[in-house]
Amino acid sequence: MAAIQPSQAANDRPSTETLVAADQTHHLHPFQMFDSFRSDPVLTIEQGQGATLVDTEGNTYLDAVGGMWCTNIGLGRDEMADAIAAQVRRLAYANPFTDMVGVPAVELAAKLSELAPGDLNHVFFASSGSAALDSSLRLVQFYWGAKGTPERCHVICREDAYHGTTVAAASLGGKASDTGPGLRFITDYIHHLSSPNHFRYGNGRSEQEFADDLMTEFKAKVDELGGASEVAAFYAEPIMGSGGVIPPPADYLQQIWRYCRANGILYVSDEVVTGFGRLGQWFASETVFGIQPDIITTAKGLTSGYLPLAAVLYSDAIQDVIAEPGHGRYFPVGFTYSGHPVACAAALKNIEIIEREGLLEHVRSIGPYFMEQLATLTDLPLVAQVRGSHLMSCVEFAVPADDDTVSKGIAKGAADRGLIVRPFSNLNIMSPPLIITRDDVDTIVSRLREAIIASQAG
Ligand SMILES: Cc1ncc(COP(=O)(O)O)c(C=O)c1O
Repeated sequence: MAAIQPSQAANDRPSTETLVAADQTHHLHPFQMFDSFRSDPVLTIEQGQGATLVDTEGNTYLDAVGGMWCTNIGLGRDEMADAIAAQVRRLAYANPFTDMVGVPAVELAAKLSELAPGDLNHVFFASSGSAALDSSLRLVQFYWGAKGTPERCHVICREDAYHGTTVAAASLGGKASDTGPGLRFITDYIHHLSSPNHFRYGNGRSEQEFADDLMTEFKAKVDELGGASEVAAFYAEPIMGSGGVIPPPADYLQQIWRYCRANGILYVSDEVVTGFGRLGQWFASETVFGIQPDIITTAKGLTSGYLPLAAVLYSDAIQDVIAEPGHGRYFPVGFTYSGHPVACAAALKNIEIIEREGLLEHVRSIGPYFMEQLATLTDLPLVAQVRGSHLMSCVEFAVPADDDTVSKGIAKGAADRGLIVRPFSNLNIMSPPLIITRDDVDTIVSRLREAIIASQAG
């Protein structure tokens, strides 16, 4: 990887001040905070290399968030730029509908089928995690319709889950903070169970007792909906991400999965964050958590954020039903940019790099070191818990969950020290690129420690 060079463009672009003003005037960010966006100017990022970001003032930052859980192989790789440029020259776009396809989409679908667990041998492409989740719900509905039981429509998911922000994806999600004036959600067939956050809601129960209680709640919900024959699917992230980095307590996910298997309920595993190495595996469902889902949704690390791409992977059993000949059916879901050739070429190169550089093995060794070092922060009175797994982690501060001033203050202090962490509720979330070194881990932990201590001084 080339070292970061002073920006060639710096002299040609507007000043930081002008950029910030234009941003405030013209740009609505995802999750924009309207009370503070004028007083808390955005960081205007101009360059990135590996895990390092450089802003328009020339300040450098170690990005412990990995963009938005996504810059898995690190930024600024010439090989990625070359693969993307070559594909643009060869074929920048091909119609993916019905009876045409660009070559990279076919190659990628075959590669993903090879990497996915079990018989998930079929792939539908979208351009964002949210659209993949939305499409997966369409697939679930289409499957039950094709099977002749369209009334089997109820979907069970969890509070605190995050599955994106299209209407369907937001309805599958369950973060209390992700509502807003006038926003409406699908509530007639999408239902939520309690959050599996043992730290917050365990109330003295062991992890196993908590898991058993969640399972009891799941079965009660199925009964309330009229029995398994009315329930189409269960949705879960293997480790909840944006809901607060919540690993599943004890065998909770396996218990639900076994019940789903035994009762024909489709199990959808949302691996938008956990796919492509964050937990040291291509996918975490089977290898880490012992679950063989019927459907996996994935995005982010699929291209390491170089281009937008998402995928829905699904089983032979689903394909056998929906694609049974003789019914005159077609799947009425698809996007202009499904299987975009350039995005798929980027994904293929990204996967090649992860394989060639042994990044999954690297995460399996650096991940435990990262968690171990982060855990040293628990000697600070303000740190209530450090949790997560491998390169998916958070530090929870000993303040009420609805108080985000502490986490924001610490994230700001960290940025002043050249470290990006993501504040959310009373947490700082981290999901660094898979390429981080032990030195990077030590830098993250020492800068975060300093920021936490400084937040309490004075
Ligand atoms: C688990 C999970 N699912 C879905 C999404 C939505 O992905 P996107 O932002 O690409 O629409 C996210 C985004 O963070 C996510 O974390």
